[in-house]
Amino acid sequence: MDAIEVLKKRRSVRVYTRESVPRKIIEDIVDCGRLAATAVNIQPWEFVVVTDADMLRKLAETTDHGKFIADAPVCVVVLSRDTKYYLEDGSAATENILLAARAHGLGSCWVAGDKKAHAPEICRLVGAPQGYKLVSLIPLGYPAESPEKTKRPLSDVLHWEKY
Ligand SMILES: Cc1cc2nc3c(=O)[nH]c(=O)nc-3n(C[C@H](O)[C@H](O)[C@H](O)COP(=O)(O)O)c2cc1C
Repeated sequence: MDAIEVLKKRRSVRVYTRESVPRKIIEDIVDCGRLAATAVNIQPWEFVVVTDADMLRKLAETTDHGKFIADAPVCVVVLSRDTKYYLEDGSAATENILLAARAHGLGSCWVAGDKKAHAPEICRLVGAPQGYKLVSLIPLGYPAESPEKTKRPLSDVLHWEKY
């Protein structure tokens, strides 16, 4: 699949098969997160890969809209050091991970994250050092659903020269 197709075909997937994801693929996906754009190349991110079923359940229970994390084989927790652009940088890394997952034939979903009441507890569960923020949780797994989403048409959102 070429890059444009990956970008256009990525959808949030919240139901996964029980098939485990090879370690090499997980590493490659996180590597794509590591290479994201980042203000002044500060790279404030850290990625915690969770595969332990108990821990996946705890993460899921702690979130409000991420209960499906419990049934994913993997969850990547994206943390960002509290710098000026921690959220933009962490978000760029998160999107790279979603796209890399799609390119590897995996389903994923951005689960918030920053601003959520559960953020400090997730940070505690994964052992994040003081001064790190939770940007997102990203469950990964082979897709067991093919969701469609209605998107605003290009003609609605594209403005040439002026709004
Ligand atoms: C910042 C952010 C937070 C999100 N948080 C959640 C979440 O907590 N739970 C969830 O199921 N989906 C979450 N999503 C996924 C969105 O619901 C999804 O991207 C949106 O409905 C568009 O669908 P698509 O990703 O299939 O294009 C989040 C997405 C973003 C960008």
